[in-house]
Amino acid sequence: MKTVECDVLIKNIGQLLTISSKNVPLTNPNRESLGIIENAYLAIKDGKIIDSGSGRSRIDADRVIDADGCVTLPGFIDSHTHMIFGGKREREFSLRIRGKEYLTIMQEGGGIKSTVYATRAESSEDVFETSNRHLDRALAWGTTTCEVKSGYGLSTEDEIKILEVAQMLEKKHKMDIISTFLGAHEVPEEFSENKKGYVELLLKEMIPEVSKRKLAKFCDVFCEKGVFNRRESEKILKEGLKHGLHSKIHADEFSNIGASELSDKVNAVSCDHLLYTNEKGLFSMKKSGSIAVLLPGTNLFLMKKKVPPINKMRELRVPIAIASDFNPGSSPVIAMPVIISLSCLLYRMTPEEAIVGATINAACAIKKEDAIGSIEKGKEADIVIMDVRNYEEIPYWFAQNRILYVIKRGKVVAGKKRRNLN
Ligand code: NIG
Ligand code: FE
Repeated sequence: MKTVECDVLIKNIGQLLTISSKNVPLTNPNRESLGIIENAYLAIKDGKIIDSGSGRSRIDADRVIDADGCVTLPGFIDSHTHMIFGGKREREFSLRIRGKEYLTIMQEGGGIKSTVYATRAESSEDVFETSNRHLDRALAWGTTTCEVKSGYGLSTEDEIKILEVAQMLEKKHKMDIISTFLGAHEVPEEFSENKKGYVELLLKEMIPEVSKRKLAKFCDVFCEKGVFNRRESEKILKEGLKHGLHSKIHADEFSNIGASELSDKVNAVSCDHLLYTNEKGLFSMKKSGSIAVLLPGTNLFLMKKKVPPINKMRELRVPIAIASDFNPGSSPVIAMPVIISLSCLLYRMTPEEAIVGATINAACAIKKEDAIGSIEKGKEADIVIMDVRNYEEIPYWFAQNRILYVIKRGKVVAGKKRRNLN
């Protein structure tokens, strides 16, 4: 008997990870938080999830996808990227391998500044084309929503150029894009003797203009020794808040100048990196309900032994998300399954923590938890089917693309659609 009609029915799902969406963001997630339904089905209509459950579905569908016993879960959410840039920095990679420090390269005019030159020099069309291809690659690895930051323009005109490219990508690419204004990523060359002047430009011109044109949802600051100090960062983020931009902080990445301690002063939605964070910072984050966005790809590429204080985060119940930090310098990693593996391998996060960190907690880090990040009725049908039978295989098959199907709002948009034999 025909009961409900749907557009797409996914059947024979070995494990459906629905992911708990109660009391989000989740702290100290465990197997139960994954909300596993064994031998499951999932029904989609008008791009939304309308039903899921165990056993055979009686729902009649236009299209049936046979998951063939594979794991199915929400599309990955990459909540921290610097996706839009010109050029590349493989030379710096070689220099770092030979022992040169990231911050030294930066102080000598390389690093972020070199990408600023390259990005300024390229036309919007060229930057769009490159970013579009990056997004294709991210989608093929199961990312269905992506935060992107500006920060390689560092002038009003060039920052707007980047954010307009982001807006165009949001319109034209299948990926959903959430934009962040990161004009405070570095002090540009032309202001090297006048940092005060650049901060003024950020406060008086860039933030108001970005807000007026509705080009960003968040404002971010690289609060770090030799970049923006705490006082400057606070001013910038507060100006952002005044203009309707929620705060994010690149915090405690190379040193601790009290960046994450700013969290409760600027109501930070997330503090990202956090290698050098201490209890004080975590208390401040706890107070403001800020999410710790951890970026293990950066650890790997900067070859850093230091890791974030995961046990303290667990003890204080600070929620954790994980992201790629995809950028041309410190993390050319775009694949979220790789980030899941690295979170486990480098940070000793459990597979459950990593999966929650790449789905529902990542949704919270971009304030999209009402629409994505878990599988429940009414949410967007952003789904990945992976060529694994047990979710613990997701971090285990390191750097193998095991994505079979990527489904965005109910439509298959990427994937290999064939199974391996094991
Ligand atoms: O998150 N820390 C600052 N920004 C980026 C690196 C950007 C770059 O090297 O181009 C990061 O690691
Ligand atoms: Fe970053």
